[in-house]
Amino acid sequence: MKLNIAVLPGDGIGPEVTNQAVKALKAIASEFDHNFKFVYADVGAVAIDKQNNPLPDETLDLCKTSDAILFGSIGHPKYDNDPSAKVRPEQGLLKLRKELGLFANIRPVKAYETLLDKSPLKKNIIQGTDISIYRELTGGIYFGEKSLSEDGNVASDLCEYSREEIERIAHLAFKSAQSRKHKVTLVDKANVLESSRLWRRVVTEVAKQYKDVTLDFLFVDNAAMQMILNPKQFDVILTENMFGDIISDEASVIGGSIGLLASASVGDKYAMFEPIHGSYPQATGKGIANPIASILSAAMLLVHFGLHTEAELIKIGVEKSLKLNISTPDINTKYDNITTSKVGDFIEDFINNPKDTNMN
Ligand code: IPM
Ligand code: MN
Repeated sequence: MKLNIAVLPGDGIGPEVTNQAVKALKAIASEFDHNFKFVYADVGAVAIDKQNNPLPDETLDLCKTSDAILFGSIGHPKYDNDPSAKVRPEQGLLKLRKELGLFANIRPVKAYETLLDKSPLKKNIIQGTDISIYRELTGGIYFGEKSLSEDGNVASDLCEYSREEIERIAHLAFKSAQSRKHKVTLVDKANVLESSRLWRRVVTEVAKQYKDVTLDFLFVDNAAMQMILNPKQFDVILTENMFGDIISDEASVIGGSIGLLASASVGDKYAMFEPIHGSYPQATGKGIANPIASILSAAMLLVHFGLHTEAELIKIGVEKSLKLNISTPDINTKYDNITTSKVGDFIEDFINNPKDTNMN
């Protein structure tokens, strides 16, 4: 298969982890005779530094003419500590999601057997957890009208959703549940928010088309509690933009590190693959950032194009690395000095010689 992949490493640890994902994809291409072409472009704080624009036109154009986008991470402390900054790295990512119509962000959460002890949660609580979070990505409070009064003392962010925006992601969530455990949990705040009541209404209607899937509802505050009390109860979680952002960071604790969580952001036309973690500025350049989230995002890219065997090989390589403790310090149980690129090398070698390193 021929694929043009736009690579947007972004800020902080983004370039280091993305390099490992590209390494894995190149190994897959050579092993399976695919033709993957990678073209790099700037986004985020690096793009602001160069062009005072977090999403330069040429980056957006590249994304629109590519088959898929591999994204690193975004954000820089100099903007976090300056609330008055008008141009911010995050705008690059948000604009990209909006311009490309990437309305569904899919975030798988899994408790790996070998990492059960790395989570601060008890083993018996998390063992067997397998959740797929469907986070709406181009609407809600992130994109509603914003305002700040002239004296700077009153601010507002509007949370708005339309029936269409809810329907299109709901269908994806139900379809996914059909090939999983046949359950969708809608997370909302329908006891308070009008927009959440619309979500309940619309999702209940959509559910009628999926008779083999059970739909239940949880208020987001309760869902946050249930996520650490009994995460095994969840199959597919469907939720709006900001609730999904928060719940998925919380859920990452189950896996033992946020450095393990991959995601796919899809729309009608484009698809982007990105780790859920941020730019982790304190770790930049130290070789301690976990590349697994980025590598698993590359595996999700392969699944998107129907390359299931290829994706499976990456996943087995990842599980093998976890089992052998070829891991960065966030999850390394022996505190060996395993760097970001060593993890990438291991997975690359595994892809090149899968028979040499079978799972047993
Ligand atoms: C994420 C991130 C982004 C978000 C930020 C960087 C804008 O936290 O992808 O989860 O809030 O969506
Ligand atoms: Mn987030």
